[in-house]
Amino acid sequence: MIVLGIESSCDETACAIVNDKREILGQSLLSQEEHHAFGGVVPEIAARAHLEHIDEIISRAVLNAGIELENIDAVAAASGPGLIGGVVVGVMAAKALALSLNKPFVAVNHLEGHALCARLSNDVAYPYLLLLVSGGHCQILVVKDVGEYERLGTTIDDAAGEAFDKVAKMLGLSYPGGPLLEKAALSGNETRFVLPRPLIGSGDCNLSFSGLKTAVRKIIESYSTDGDITHAELEPQDINDICASFQYAATDCLVKKLQKAIEIFKAKYPEGKHLVVSGGVAANTYLRSALQKLADKSQLIFAAPPIKYCTDNGVMIAWAGLERFQKGYTSPLDFKPRPRWPLDEFAPKAAGAGGVKA
Ligand code: KG4
Ligand code: ZN
Repeated sequence: MIVLGIESSCDETACAIVNDKREILGQSLLSQEEHHAFGGVVPEIAARAHLEHIDEIISRAVLNAGIELENIDAVAAASGPGLIGGVVVGVMAAKALALSLNKPFVAVNHLEGHALCARLSNDVAYPYLLLLVSGGHCQILVVKDVGEYERLGTTIDDAAGEAFDKVAKMLGLSYPGGPLLEKAALSGNETRFVLPRPLIGSGDCNLSFSGLKTAVRKIIESYSTDGDITHAELEPQDINDICASFQYAATDCLVKKLQKAIEIFKAKYPEGKHLVVSGGVAANTYLRSALQKLADKSQLIFAAPPIKYCTDNGVMIAWAGLERFQKGYTSPLDFKPRPRWPLDEFAPKAAGAGGVKA
């Protein structure tokens, strides 16, 4: 079985082709650089850039795979949640391709792409405990099967990646800030600034990053004579130390909440063996090693997609599309792209549009 998948929900235009032997046959990806000057993704620019490049990105993936289009069994696209202009571009391209090949279209939830991606590279069986940390989302879930999720916790304000990006921006680092913050933290002292751990004593698995971000802002303000953070006089070492202290605090919050989630997961799903992290922030090596230690301590097996498949890509959409298609979940060609689409809102056994009412 061969599935082609398209991703266009944020600032990556990507396409990949995978098969049921867990092989990536071909792929291509374009990270839009147009947004860097704005310090964040500009939806209209993103939509236009997707439109401009989508045909070429699909052609390159097919060429790279060395297959004939007729050999594809289904065409999948990230159909939400995301920036709707971009999502529409990917969904329209996928529907057109599916129609012309007379093959089924599979609407994939972008978050399900992240959630299932580790199963392509690692032997991860259902059910597993998942920390999904991206630029737009931060959730702790039990993945019971394709389309079957139980949410144990979520952020009540910022997503983890959003917090990394905002802190990086305050420090004058460029966009996206997460990877640059991680790099700066490598030369920093993580114990120099003591930062809060919001919601740590709440007794549930929910997270909050807004207070952490404000605490960083206050530190930066203290380096400015007029209280304006853009006038803060920070030495490179100060920046590195703030990055390290923030990364330490954010990781500590995630680890502590996962400890609680592991207790629940083990009690409810004793057959579950894996702790998985996915989404853009899962590319962070410091977080990965903290989670590896947590899994070892908890007698769970730690798994994560390879670093290059943590941030948005076509492979994760093609793989989730393949898993959906294997279960017989296809979507009608009038499926409406969804700007909002909570992962645990699925009713996969119901007939119709990818398991949800469009
Ligand atoms: O999954 P993703 O590519 O897009 C969304 O679906 O949101 O995640 C992007 C997020 C950005 O906030 C980016 O700063 C963050 O992932 N990120 C990182 C790292 N690499 C990407 N955050 C921390 N450390 C990294 N190495
Ligand atoms: Zn994503």
